[in-house]
Amino acid sequence: MNIIVTDSPEQAFRKAADMIACEVLYNPHPVLGLATGRTMESIYRLLVKQYEASDLDFAATTSFNLDEYVGLSATDPNSYRYYMQEHLFEHVNMSTSQIHVPNGIAADLDLECARYEAAIEKAGGIGLQLLGIGETGHIGFNEPPSAFNSRTRVVHLDEITRRQNSGMFGNDPTRVPEHALTMGVGTILEARKLLLVAVGKGKAAIVDDALNGPLNENVSATAIRLHQDCTVILDNAAASIWK
Ligand code: F6R
Repeated sequence: MNIIVTDSPEQAFRKAADMIACEVLYNPHPVLGLATGRTMESIYRLLVKQYEASDLDFAATTSFNLDEYVGLSATDPNSYRYYMQEHLFEHVNMSTSQIHVPNGIAADLDLECARYEAAIEKAGGIGLQLLGIGETGHIGFNEPPSAFNSRTRVVHLDEITRRQNSGMFGNDPTRVPEHALTMGVGTILEARKLLLVAVGKGKAAIVDDALNGPLNENVSATAIRLHQDCTVILDNAAASIWK
């Protein structure tokens, strides 16, 4: 595992954006696995800037998002599909047919999960998977416990995660959907490269657990240590316990 610790969150975001940009620039058919959340906002902003400066072209890029809330449609401002539109997709040259986010309002959610897995396979698998880490140690929405061989599925969101994500829901955790669709840990581990980014002292304890604690399905982020090509980018604050 390649662990990079930067002096500031901005440097961490810059390094992450550069790694994604390299994948887009040097892979003829880039397939990106994307994440949402506060950490990713600055990274997408940097990618959009690079695109606007004509340094990046997303025409050949396909993307698959990690997760989506059950019950929220693409036009719901709290959905992850909406988030992606707002932060990345509407600013760069990716067509809708290249963009994949699990459909949280599918009539048959299990079928939707199977369809999502098949679409990833059809695209040739994910080249670079971007990850954040939640307070429960989740990657995607793989809440404890999540089997390391789990696949895209419907999950029940932990109360801690619903509180963590309540900012978008008027700070009311009860308004955060109880269920989500998420790529499984096994799905994530099949990406050719993993890139996990965490900043801020609020992430320090869980980053320490993920990097130093026992490999275990109660902290799904520990699974990234099983991957052959994984980069973790932290700022000093997120690395403060680990170091
Ligand atoms: C979101 C996702 C989550 C977040 C994690 C960190 O698509 O997969 O695992 O990456 O909850 O979220 P922030 O960055 O908001 O702390």
